Parts: sequence; structure tokens; C-alpha cells
Amino acid sequence: MPTTTPTREILAAKRLDNVRYAIRDLAGLADDLTKQGHKILPLTVGDPITFDFATPPHMIEAVYKAMRDGKNGYCASPGVKEALDAIRGEAERRGITTVRDVFVTSGVSETVDVCLAALLNPGENLLTPCPDYPLYSAILAKLGIELNTYYLDEDNGWQPDLEDIKRKITPKTRGIVLINPNNPTGALCSRQMLEQLADIAREHNLVIFADEIYDKLILDDHQHIPLASVAPDVPIVTFGGLSKNYLAPGWRVGWGAVSGDAAAVAPYIEGIHRLLRARLCANHPEQYAIKPALEGPQDHIAAACKKLRARRDLTVKWANATPRVSLVPPLGAFYAFPRLDIPESDEVFVTELCRQKHVLAVHGSGFGQKPGTKHCRVVFLPNEETLTKAYGAISEFMTARYA
Ligand SMILES: Cc1ncc(COP(=O)(O)O)c(C=O)c1O
Repeated sequence: MPTTTPTREILAAKRLDNVRYAIRDLAGLADDLTKQGHKILPLTVGDPITFDFATPPHMIEAVYKAMRDGKNGYCASPGVKEALDAIRGEAERRGITTVRDVFVTSGVSETVDVCLAALLNPGENLLTPCPDYPLYSAILAKLGIELNTYYLDEDNGWQPDLEDIKRKITPKTRGIVLINPNNPTGALCSRQMLEQLADIAREHNLVIFADEIYDKLILDDHQHIPLASVAPDVPIVTFGGLSKNYLAPGWRVGWGAVSGDAAAVAPYIEGIHRLLRARLCANHPEQYAIKPALEGPQDHIAAACKKLRARRDLTVKWANATPRVSLVPPLGAFYAFPRLDIPESDEVFVTELCRQKHVLAVHGSGFGQKPGTKHCRVVFLPNEETLTKAYGAISEFMTARYA
């Protein structure tokens, strides 16, 4: 006989209340519109492979060979030696002279997860940027750690607001996250900024997580300076990976390089490795693409930057010509974070824009922003024709809605 006991919902943990991933949350609306037969112009997802960028063939060959050669079992928890040596070599070439440890993870997403979990005790905090790449706040929520955000200063090219950082350091602060080049603003830090940030970390005994996953996607003649190269004594974990510079996000390959005073970072490195051992290992055959990526032909980077520069320029031109929009020109990565002078929330803006014009952008509030300001994030990976159509549609939408 079937019973009629009432359904008792299995509730998710309360600490997940603060886990938001606006980028993917918006996908639901886009899916509904697609099902209704509309074609969506997506300016949301930072996946170059969705557009006219391709993983370099020599990397694909290396993974294919690794699979054929039977590298399909688990590997050592920190990663395969060939890949670790290549990551070390790359760090040294980029001027990081005090690398104490390197390890491979399933994307930088897992590097962040492991590094934050290995550092923070309940009641402690980590300074994260605002606006932020939402993974950081999601992992902090998972760990039950309260957010402590510092502002990126739009009036100063979206550079970290050092005075705000100093104000927000408490006796329980253990570290600072710096995303450079930045997602969502596309900003790039100057050497002076990096030195000042390192001084603060030194003074307060903080670890810096330098998320440099976009470090080769620099759009003008500026140079990306690895934070760890200007502060060899400061405990820094530099994050890198194959997803962006090397156009292989689906392979889920990332890494961390720990630098700083050897004795100071030793216990933390041991903590990281405990977690790495507990999750067995990162994707194995894909790790064989790391050495060919870092040491092989780099032509795809110049080609990608050339495309991105043209698409960034088009984005800036549109922003400059559009009433109610202002934009700090992005210098790296493939994101722009235009400011919107509108009488409603930016969440309503992106939702209505998607409903009416079928252009999908992410609301600034999904990344955090200074109270009273409104933004949206656009990914300028699509080709010029698509971007021109999308920006034209946004302008039309704004004229009709706010004239
Ligand atoms: C700043 C930043 N860090 C980390 C990640 C995650 O990268 P991965 O694909 O290596 O997990 C992203 C992805 O968009 C990112 O923008």
C-alpha cells in the first residue's frame, strides 16, 4: 500500500545562504528565453572556447599522448613531476626567486578552495576585493568565515584602495586576495601598488593570494608584474592555470606556487599538502599539457591578445558614446565593468535587458560594489560583429527605458 506521509524537505546547510554565483544564476533566465526560440547574445561566460579561440594543438597532442601512454590512473597528490618542474621554471623565469612549493589542482577553483581551507580557522578572516570574483566569497561561506571586503577604487583605475585595506585589518585577519589582472574590472596593478600591498602584508604578517590566472592576457604595452617577484620574503601563493592564458578551461588544470621565507611558510605548505592528499590528485593526463604549454610555442597568446585588444577598444568606444555609461578601460583579461547611471537596480537592468533584447550581461551587485553605485560586467570575448549587435541593443534598450 502506498503511504501518504507528507514530504519532508531535506534542507541545505544554512551556511550556503551566502553562496551566490550570479553568472550561472542568470543562465536560468537565458535558458527559458532560448526554449521560447530566442537567440541570446551572451556577454557573461568567461570561456574563450565558446567563441573564436581554440586550445593550442600541441597541448591537445600532449594530453592525447598521455592518455595513450596509460597515464590514466591516479598520480601523486601534488601533481606529476614534469608539470611541477615546468611551473617552477615558469615562476623563476618571471622573477619569483623564492618558490618553496608548487602543486597542481583541478582548476584554480580548487587551488582557492585548498589554500583558503588550509589557512583559516573559525573566527578569522581574509580580505577579499569588492567587486570580487564570486568564487572567493562562496568558499568563505562554505568554510563559515565572515566576509571582510576591501574596495577597488573606480576613481583610481579600479586599483586596490590601500587605506580601506589598512582600516579593515583586524587581529583576526590572516590574508589578502589580489586578482591581477582583475575579474570583473580588467584592471592591472602597477609595481608601486604591488610594493605597497606587500608592505602591508609584511607589517601585519598576512599571506597574499595572488590570483594571476590572466597574467598573459595583457592588452596594451603594459607589463604584468607578478606580485611574488617584488616581495620575495612575503608569504604569497601565486595562482595560475591552463583555463585562460592557455585556452583550455574544460581541462580543469590550475596550480599554486608558494613563495616567501622558507621557515615561515613551511607549516602552511604542510597544511596544503594534507588537503591535497585527502582529495587524491588533480586530473592526471591533462597535467602533461602543462610543460608544453609553458615551454612550447606561445603564438596563440599574441593572437588572442590582438583579438581581445580590438574587442576591448570597441567596448570602450561604445561606453564613451553611450549616455549613462562610463568605463575604466580594461588593461588585461577579457572583462569590462561599466558603471551605469540608472534609476533602478542593476539586477533589474540586466534581467530586463535579457528579456527585451536577449543580451545577457551580469549585474554589478553579483560581484559586490560600493553602495549607491551600479554596474554590469560584460565579457568581450565575442567577435566584433556580435559585440556591435549586443552593444547596439543595449544602447537601444537604455534610450527607450531611460530617455
Ligand atoms: C579570477 C579568477 N580566478 C579563478 C578562476 C577559476 O579558474 P579555473 O577555471 O582555473 O578554475 C576564474 C575563472 O573565471 C577567475 O576569473
